[in-house]
Amino acid sequence: MSRAVDLLLDHLRAEQARGVEHVYLDEEAREVLRDLHRRTVAAKKNKGGTASSAPTQATPARSKTTAPARPREAPAAPPPAELKVEGATAAERVASLKAQAENWQPARAMGTLREKMVFSVGDPEAELMLVGEAPGHHEERQGEPFVGPAGQKLNDILKAMGVERTGVYISNIVKFRPAMPKQTSNNRKPTPEEMAACLPFVREEVKVVRPKCIVALGGTAAEGLLGLSGSVGAMRGKWHEFDGIPVRVTYHPAYLLHGSAALGDKRKIWEDMLEVMEMLGLPISDKQRGFFLPKG
Ligand code: URA
Repeated sequence: MSRAVDLLLDHLRAEQARGVEHVYLDEEAREVLRDLHRRTVAAKKNKGGTASSAPTQATPARSKTTAPARPREAPAAPPPAELKVEGATAAERVASLKAQAENWQPARAMGTLREKMVFSVGDPEAELMLVGEAPGHHEERQGEPFVGPAGQKLNDILKAMGVERTGVYISNIVKFRPAMPKQTSNNRKPTPEEMAACLPFVREEVKVVRPKCIVALGGTAAEGLLGLSGSVGAMRGKWHEFDGIPVRVTYHPAYLLHGSAALGDKRKIWEDMLEVMEMLGLPISDKQRGFFLPKG
């Protein structure tokens, strides 16, 4: 095996050891791997080995008058999916990303996401960026992240922090609502593959916005953004990092929609937000510090 392949395997094993379970391959990388596979198969055949486990088929005798079969040409690979971020201002650069998301082939080609694209909302120069998992029914209808019941909870959290929704940047890892059979208003979590397909956008959004910190809303967003797995309980309570930007993981605001969300759960989310406020250098009153503490 070539040195390049050994290096690639070493890198993938190191990523796996770090907890990363999925890697995104653009079309160019896939073509390199396909080519490697073709060459391995051809090398095995030349050595007389059976390169494939597929059952061999009897070749029909060809009549002498039949023209010799031409070697099949490999179909032309589609151009690699590449993001070009254009524009002088942050708003223009976000708009340029949004325009490219509409027809982003790595996401579209999976056929598991719905048509309508929902990109982001808020201030492209915000100090705080919040990242959810994927748009749901309400977001798809209104073309804006976090506008349904979970969005209302997020608005309440921002209000308690003394921050305007228009003053932060809100986005999702996946830019399309995940599709389901017989879908009405029901939503599903995006898969790791769907998140990997859209992650290049989030990465570019972070480069454009350059927030002081990011909040990953829920375990799925944390998995897509940071490659973490496990419970939110284990992910929260510390700072992580995404492309050099500090990231705090907290429970998804939808968690607060269940009547069963106890005061203690609300307090945990609030403590995460207090950490975020400290990081942003926002003023914190004594009253704010005491939110969701048991009375007495
Ligand atoms: N949940 C998310 O993760 N994102 C949205 O935009 C809405 C609900």
